[in-house]
Amino acid sequence: MRPAQAIPLFGMLLLGAAVVAAGPAPADVPPDAGAPAAAAAGAAPSAAPEVVRARAAPEVVRARAAVAAFAATLQGELKNAIAAGGPVNGIKVCAERAPAIAHEVGTAHGLAIGRTSLKNRNPANTPDAWERAAMSRFEQDRQAGADPATLEAVVHTAIEGRPVTRYMKAIVTQPLCTTCHGATLAPEVEAALRDFYPADAARGFAPGDLRGAFTVTLDR
Ligand code: HEC
Repeated sequence: MRPAQAIPLFGMLLLGAAVVAAGPAPADVPPDAGAPAAAAAGAAPSAAPEVVRARAAPEVVRARAAVAAFAATLQGELKNAIAAGGPVNGIKVCAERAPAIAHEVGTAHGLAIGRTSLKNRNPANTPDAWERAAMSRFEQDRQAGADPATLEAVVHTAIEGRPVTRYMKAIVTQPLCTTCHGATLAPEVEAALRDFYPADAARGFAPGDLRGAFTVTLDR
């Protein structure tokens, strides 16, 4: 994804942080200078991002609330669209409404929010270096036995000199998702995806897989 100001989380993305923590959320933990350098590396071109573990920090609380609102609204509209007009109608809703809902929720919450993935469908959802590192870390943690639904990443960094917090939350594939992101797709779904997303890479997911992440950027 792109940096927050430009269209940060439009296509559905969010952001992350250096601390990709798995498992039960610890209470506040002091800044940890030794946190994942790799994850931090891509966050900001200039200064090395400060790594934070203050998972109950106000910025993190705000980011989580925005993610919850985005997820609930999008899932609701997606389910309604599929119920009303089948999966091809759902694809239209995802294509048009996902970026719009991200924008609406971002405006309402005063931040930038979107979705991203290591295998994305919409090129606008391509992760930046920090997001990629955070999602790779999520994947490692999942393979090490962490509950994927609990994976989050947070970093305090700067974008063009503006101090920001970036937050990411993993998105887990559910059975419904495989209608459009699974290994085998119905012919009409294939055809609609070919039309809308000729470079689609968001295939081959099974329930329980990490599908991607919400990504949020907010001023601090
Ligand atoms: C009806 C088809 C359909 C279903 C069902 C569906 N998606 Fe998608 N998904 C899409 C489309 C289309 C896009 C591209 C949206 C855009 O242009 O921003 C997308 C994009 C995404 C993205 C953003 C990253 C990317 O690949 O561009 C994520 C994350 C995602 N979907 C997760 C899910 C999850 C999780 C589920 C199940 C809860 C799900 N999707 C169900 C069609 C679907």
